[in-house]
Amino acid sequence: MSTTRTPTILMCPPDHYGIEYEINPWMKRSFASVRDQAFLQWRTLRSTLANLGAVIEEMTPQLGLPDLVFTANAGLIFHRRFYSSRFMHEVRAKESPFFDSWFREHGYEVIHWPEGMYHEGAGDALFCGDALFAGYRTRSDARAHQWVAAEMGVRVLPLELVNPRFYHLDTCFCPLADGMALYYPDAFDTYGKRVLETHVSTLIPVIEAEAHRFGCNAVVVGKTVVHNSGCPQMAMDLEKHGYKSIEVTLDEFLKAGGSAKCLTLRLDGEEAAGWARQA
Ligand code: ARG
Repeated sequence: MSTTRTPTILMCPPDHYGIEYEINPWMKRSFASVRDQAFLQWRTLRSTLANLGAVIEEMTPQLGLPDLVFTANAGLIFHRRFYSSRFMHEVRAKESPFFDSWFREHGYEVIHWPEGMYHEGAGDALFCGDALFAGYRTRSDARAHQWVAAEMGVRVLPLELVNPRFYHLDTCFCPLADGMALYYPDAFDTYGKRVLETHVSTLIPVIEAEAHRFGCNAVVVGKTVVHNSGCPQMAMDLEKHGYKSIEVTLDEFLKAGGSAKCLTLRLDGEEAAGWARQA
């Protein structure tokens, strides 16, 4: 669905990016990232999105916060409200004050989850049409999804993430439009697969090798999908469904368990989000 709104995306340059701890199966401190490569890849992603007409907002990088580049985890955006993540790991919880200040300075109402609930923002909660698809178990909990959905007054569809490599929902599910999404079936249990099949009329499966290239971790701008390199089958399938696919190599970020989508936070609501089209 192409809209007349201007896509607005929050990103954070990788000045202090690195593999300094291990909080998911992709991260190995011994497998360090190469600074120049990370910059080059990040800048290519940024300019690719800007060339598609997106306005890119930038956060200031912070020393000691290597994962601040993954702005998708800042929180969940709903109109002018920013639900600020409650990170599962202390090393990432330190990012929240910086995200909160940025959103406060930019005129958002900043809301926090009650204590004792964990939620990692747009990494684990994605709108497809009017429903909020919500990944839980590893980083976010089902209660936190129920809480935020009740706050927003939207329907939530909880999906258990059963494969440790696909620890955030945005690593295995990517809404393209109302009723259409990419997904990696093996990241879900039978019940989760059934929920997806029942609620998304066109589900495009991504093969294992390309899911491991983080193909599902894609950024959708209108009818264009920007994703990591090495996903030729997914690119062909997208084209069959009327989408243009653009590959940007993001291997340096795969070392931290992230890719295109993780490096962005859509401030005006993702393409598939029902509320954003009405806003
Ligand atoms: N190293 C980061 C973490 O484990 C990567 C975050 C990826 N973000 C995402 N939205 N999937 O938290």
